[in-house]
Amino acid sequence: MIGIFDSGSGGLSVLSALRKQAPKADIVYFGDIANAPYGGKSPDELAALVQNGMRVLAEHSATEIIAACNSIAFSVLAGAAGHERLIEMTRPTARMMRAFAGERVLLLATQATINAGIYRDALWSIVDLDELPIPELAGAIEDEKTAVEITAIVRAALLKKTGKIYEKVLLGCTHYPLVGGTIEREMRGLFPQAQIIDPAEAVAREAVERFDCEGSGTVTFLISKDTHAFRNRIAPLFLETQCTLQVI
Ligand code: DGL
Repeated sequence: MIGIFDSGSGGLSVLSALRKQAPKADIVYFGDIANAPYGGKSPDELAALVQNGMRVLAEHSATEIIAACNSIAFSVLAGAAGHERLIEMTRPTARMMRAFAGERVLLLATQATINAGIYRDALWSIVDLDELPIPELAGAIEDEKTAVEITAIVRAALLKKTGKIYEKVLLGCTHYPLVGGTIEREMRGLFPQAQIIDPAEAVAREAVERFDCEGSGTVTFLISKDTHAFRNRIAPLFLETQCTLQVI
């Protein structure tokens, strides 16, 4: 059983990529919405949340883990998960970014991810990296703020990079692909030639290579707080596969 862990809805971008590549994988997904967003928390707080997330997933039979949250990648790499069969976001992303060696890349991520320096460490020798934290964005997505509010947050952040040139914009928070269309629209005027990179597929590919993906294709959702936004996001999946949702 593959466990996917995120602060809330962000890991759904990884879940969706994994289901495309491995429709038979049995998955248990923990969205820790009660503690979201993670991106403003300290390393100690994040380490404790990682331990809690691992406990929840182990109690629900997960034996292989995808930490589908960039904000916890530092804690995971520092050993907080205490798990060997685990994939986090930064290493598969770095491997994927080798295809773009030498290019100018803008990383969009939470403050915790930028503060931890994990992408600087992973990518400095591969690409010419610039970074932009968007502190309010993941929380706004989780809370299903209006398109107008999301657009304003994205626009205000991207404007800080006016005049810069990038070949790639890397989505370093798993929540961001959920508003990929808005990011795409807002960056067009600023960085017309830049292409958005979502690491979800590369992370899912690594799971397919390393994890047991032969099951009955069931998905068990666990959430630490019930929200309409999360239920709305997963509703389409309930039509096409065997799913359950539990508030824990
Ligand atoms: N989706 C997560 C990430 O990739 C967490 C965002 C948050 O909760 O702030 O960083």
